[in-house]
Amino acid sequence: MKTTIVKKKTDISHKPIGQFEETRFEKIHNVIFSDSNEASIRVAEEIAELIRKKQNQNRTCVLGLATGSSPIRVYEELVRMHNEEGLSFQNVVTFNLDEYLPMEKSNIQSYHYFMHEHLFNHIDIDPENVHIPDGTVSPDETVAYCIDYEKKIKDFGGLDFQLLGIGRTGHIGFNEPGSHYNSGTRVITLDHITRVDAAPSFLGIANVPRKAITMGISTVRKARRIVLLGWGENKAEIIKKTIEGDISSHVPATYLQNHANCTFILDTGAASELTKNKTPWLVDACEWTEELKAKAIIWLCEETGKTVLSLTDKDYNDNGMADLLSKEDSYDLNIQIFNKLQHTITGWPGGKPNADDTNRPERAEPAKKRVIIFSPHPDDDVISMGGTFDRLVEQGHEVHVVYQTSGNIAVSDADARKFAEISMNLNPSDKAQKIINSITQNSDSQVDSPELRKLKGDIRRSESYAATRFIGLKDANVHFLDLPFYETGTIKKNNLSEEDIALMTDIIKQIKPHQIYAAGDLADPHGTHKVCLDAVFESLKRLKSEPFINDCWLWLYRGAWHEWDINEIEMCVPMSPGQVLKKRNAIFCHQSQKDGVMFQGDDSREFWMRAEERNRDTANKYKALGLSSYAAMEAFVRHKF
Ligand code: F6R
Repeated sequence: MKTTIVKKKTDISHKPIGQFEETRFEKIHNVIFSDSNEASIRVAEEIAELIRKKQNQNRTCVLGLATGSSPIRVYEELVRMHNEEGLSFQNVVTFNLDEYLPMEKSNIQSYHYFMHEHLFNHIDIDPENVHIPDGTVSPDETVAYCIDYEKKIKDFGGLDFQLLGIGRTGHIGFNEPGSHYNSGTRVITLDHITRVDAAPSFLGIANVPRKAITMGISTVRKARRIVLLGWGENKAEIIKKTIEGDISSHVPATYLQNHANCTFILDTGAASELTKNKTPWLVDACEWTEELKAKAIIWLCEETGKTVLSLTDKDYNDNGMADLLSKEDSYDLNIQIFNKLQHTITGWPGGKPNADDTNRPERAEPAKKRVIIFSPHPDDDVISMGGTFDRLVEQGHEVHVVYQTSGNIAVSDADARKFAEISMNLNPSDKAQKIINSITQNSDSQVDSPELRKLKGDIRRSESYAATRFIGLKDANVHFLDLPFYETGTIKKNNLSEEDIALMTDIIKQIKPHQIYAAGDLADPHGTHKVCLDAVFESLKRLKSEPFINDCWLWLYRGAWHEWDINEIEMCVPMSPGQVLKKRNAIFCHQSQKDGVMFQGDDSREFWMRAEERNRDTANKYKALGLSSYAAMEAFVRHKF
């Protein structure tokens, strides 16, 4: 079974149904790239080719453009092509999909601001040719305004190319569930999930506008070519529904199934729920690698509700896995997978001294290891691997926790004010007073003053020390890098710089670890966790020639929201009820992140609840597969570099 994972430059031009692989479940042509960077470059190339082709014909090129995190890299590449390859935009006319309502153009959250910051300020487009719905139109004028927007697109001959992202509601533009097939540009009320997703950049859902102007489904569908971008596991569910589900107004993106020239460009995360990737044996004959066997057999247990060792030939045959039995019988397959799972379980995450380690996840030697736990924010260490952290310390390893970012943005003004006021009471100072003043004068859309950011970072440091001391780690083994990429004072972060990598490589060189733990959170390709992981990968690449690196293993844990699939797990550390409670108390030390968390997403549980449920869930899954029953388990995947 071939999946279309693309390594090199590839053809992303549209192929109609019947002419691309895996059509049994799929109703929209899609191309999957191993990473969103390469994919974005290919899309930018397609746009550039179109612009040049139209230039040669002396014609205008009409582009429909999107905002959001998905197209950022495409715009960066177009800007690079303009600067380095002379790509001109003088024949280009653009129409943006949408804008919040009400919204001032100068507001940093406006799509007007976004488009200028990411594209228009850096290319030679004629400002007259740029069209972005106006978020300042009064309610009486919106109907006429929208009709006119639609007419302008028509007057330019319609859209040659429409770039789209997709919301978790299945919206394209801001066409939320319920949108009609024939809808044109109009005012729409935003779905709650869309507002939740936008909340971080507005510093809270209360500040997210409730309405928007959006091009309609019909406006978008009239484009001669449509490319939709989908990055990261957060989009996997909706991508599956859109590509494989029935056309329905509940998932407006499914309307694209009827378009004659539409391609979805996905990364492996966004494509992970598609049947051809999730359960390829249901699509076609498979090449049965060890990994695929494990994945399929674990899936079969979930489907049948049976343990691994009780699966029968009939279970395999009835569930599309008959060809797996052509070389081995079910008894042998069951034993193989059972043993594989069994060997992932260890109470010795740093390796068990004086024990045969042939089938253990970690090496026995050296018995006492130097360990770095990289924590993107000051709390991911205890949230995601508090139990393992505790065991490593208890088992006498030299553990260092390295907090990569200050996490200052996630402390509320109210919390910061509390500490500034206490500081004033203890020792009145201009500095504390200045901070209090800046909080009382701050509006939500303003960036915090440097002093306020420092105080917020200090609050998170103190909380981190409280947690690491509670686990029994000495302060000298706790390190704060405050990576500069994070220190923008806003949600939008900078790209990684040499300064970030230097801080990372320095600390790794200083500690010379045998084991590194890092957050392998790939759900959000633009989020802080992913950037922190990229910083780990880049640093290890740079340190490749250091002798200690040959002896260093990298273990990835998942952040607060997702867990590894059971078939991916390579080390699973069980926890007793007492250890679960200890982990909970360590998470409690991070008081500024308790109760109403600033960046909660659509999950209203506190972090300790999410962590406990997740760890209990992993233990229950192991139990359901017929392995030992534990209170909770923390899971890791080894990344070979
Ligand atoms: C943006 C737009 C939206 C986004 C969608 C995905 O102009 O119309 O449909 O494309 O919400 O947003 P990101 O890319 O941030 O995940």
